[in-house]
Amino acid sequence: MPRTILTNQDMERYVETSDDWIVSRTGIRQRHISDKDENTGDLGYAAALAALENAGIAPEDLDYILVATTTPHALVPNTSSYIQAKLGAVNAAALDINAACSGFIYGLELADVLLMRKTIKHVLVIGAEVLSKITDFTDRSTCVLFGDGAGAAVLTKGEGLYATLTGADGAKGQCLHTSDFAVRNIIAGDEPSPHLIQMDGKEVYKFAVNILPESVKKVVEEKGHALEDLDWVIPHQANVRIIEAASKRLGIPMEKFFVNIGSTGNTSAASIAIALDDMNKTGLLKKGQKLAMVGFGGGLTYGAVYLEWTKEA
Ligand SMILES: CC(C)(COP(=O)(O)OP(=O)(O)OC[C@H]1O[C@@H](n2cnc3c(N)ncnc32)[C@H](O)[C@@H]1OP(=O)(O)O)[C@@H](O)C(=O)NCCC(=O)NCCS
Repeated sequence: MPRTILTNQDMERYVETSDDWIVSRTGIRQRHISDKDENTGDLGYAAALAALENAGIAPEDLDYILVATTTPHALVPNTSSYIQAKLGAVNAAALDINAACSGFIYGLELADVLLMRKTIKHVLVIGAEVLSKITDFTDRSTCVLFGDGAGAAVLTKGEGLYATLTGADGAKGQCLHTSDFAVRNIIAGDEPSPHLIQMDGKEVYKFAVNILPESVKKVVEEKGHALEDLDWVIPHQANVRIIEAASKRLGIPMEKFFVNIGSTGNTSAASIAIALDDMNKTGLLKKGQKLAMVGFGGGLTYGAVYLEWTKEA
């Protein structure tokens, strides 16, 4: 996570809002904000190093690097190539994925598929975002929600994930969008448009409270398991009210949902990876536990993964 923290009280300097409003409507108390010169690749690189160390894997052992991000620091080179070079992961292919807040789940699914190939043994999946760089700090309905950060995981050939599910409802794309790429406007001779996030919060909320429980249920039941078998649900951290609604609909108690949104805000593609790391560091993850991870967001996209944690504590 970047070192700079913006608390809800700090947000009061930018827009007419209050700690009370933000906490009661979202559960967010603070968010981390990248410095001017800190980019997606830097955050993703730091997360990658930590993940490799934790997995006991050398950079040269990686066969593939997947970076999920909505905020690549450049169109070319892709963020994954930037990280590949910094790591010295000379044997790894490098691909960026943009599925907004579902990006890390899409990354896990792609990694699972890649690991079915004989030649691929280790895939590094990174979620990294500098959302503050595309956030409109005059729009109180969005700027209080988002934060920056990165997380990463190494997936190693084994029995495969239990089940994955991904999908999209592109017809609702305008609910959460940025303006056209400045690149196109420059070619057309127009002024570059600001590509800041715009959102219809209510529509996204409605989408999220349905798709989150639906995806968890489908992905868990696909392999004949029951919701009660789950030890943890690790949801995308967008709004604690969305998570509470999912808990009610699924009949899974809130204690089984991991929630760290209070300290991170919504970090889009990084959020589930950061949550996983928090859980790993605090010893919440134990070998044999059954986990469901679930993401949803811009696209509108969604996805879920059901897996068993195989790493020793
Ligand atoms: C954005 C969100 C928190 C707004 O909560 P809400 O309960 O729907 O609030 P509303 O939009 O109805 O706004 C209620 C009032 O609060 C005001 N408001 C909005 N943002 C505010 C803020 N930061 N501080 C204070 N007041 C605010 C609105 O202007 C509105 O005022 P009005 O009644 O005078 O018009 C909620 O819709 C949400 O979480 N949506 C999903 C967004 C999301 O997760 N996006 C990312 C998906 S990955």
